[in-house]
Amino acid sequence: MAARVVMKQLVIAIDGYSSCGKSTTAKAVAAALHYAYVDTGAMYRAVTLYLLEHNISFEDLGQVEQALHTLHISFRRNRRTGRNEVLLDGVNREDDIRQMVISNSVSEVSVIPMVRHAMVAQQQRMGRKRGVVMDGRDIGTTVFPDAEVKVFMTADVVVRAQRRQAELAEKGEQVPLEDIIENLRKRDHLDSTRAESPLRRAADAVLLDTTHLVIDEQVDFVLERVSAALFAPRG
Ligand code: DC
Repeated sequence: MAARVVMKQLVIAIDGYSSCGKSTTAKAVAAALHYAYVDTGAMYRAVTLYLLEHNISFEDLGQVEQALHTLHISFRRNRRTGRNEVLLDGVNREDDIRQMVISNSVSEVSVIPMVRHAMVAQQQRMGRKRGVVMDGRDIGTTVFPDAEVKVFMTADVVVRAQRRQAELAEKGEQVPLEDIIENLRKRDHLDSTRAESPLRRAADAVLLDTTHLVIDEQVDFVLERVSAALFAPRG
């Protein structure tokens, strides 16, 4: 009888600045390993969409708390496109959460400690069985400090803005490059300086600068770390 090899299931944390290619890389790594993929930025975007649509001020913490009890965020894989799409209260809002109006407010929402606590708790539940690739800002530091593979991604801000501009253009939204650069700079600043689980590189995260890399190279880099984590001799 053939022996069955059961691979250890890991948590792979991919953190870093906005628009460095985290999601594209994480998605491809998850597909290669048959792991689940969780885009945690989509969750903060969905909360932002909910608050804006319900005219809830980000400063009205009573209403924000109420909203967090009421709203429901989940993910569903679109079989046709292979994309993982975010559902807010059971409705697919994947395209809505990517619009600039959400990008312009999401960092203000994601600084709110009660929002972070709710999202981190849900992310920890989603990854409790491991076998997951999660991308965000605080995965390797706060959500899964025990992740076996931690990658911290960065890239030149102009290159990042050009990539984001092309993505938006593909969806029919034309945005000047300067506006995107300003949005990225503002988000990087807010994300890195907030009090609650700020964006920072975990001490044990490997740095990946994607300025001059193509997606395949980024994916290979992460998969090499995965192999090292799976097959490293135990000391
Ligand atoms: O990855 P993204 O650009 O879709 O994320 C949107 C925003 O959500 C980002 O500006 C900061 C916030 N975010 C966060 O605070 N923590 C995470 N784990 C993921 C995203």
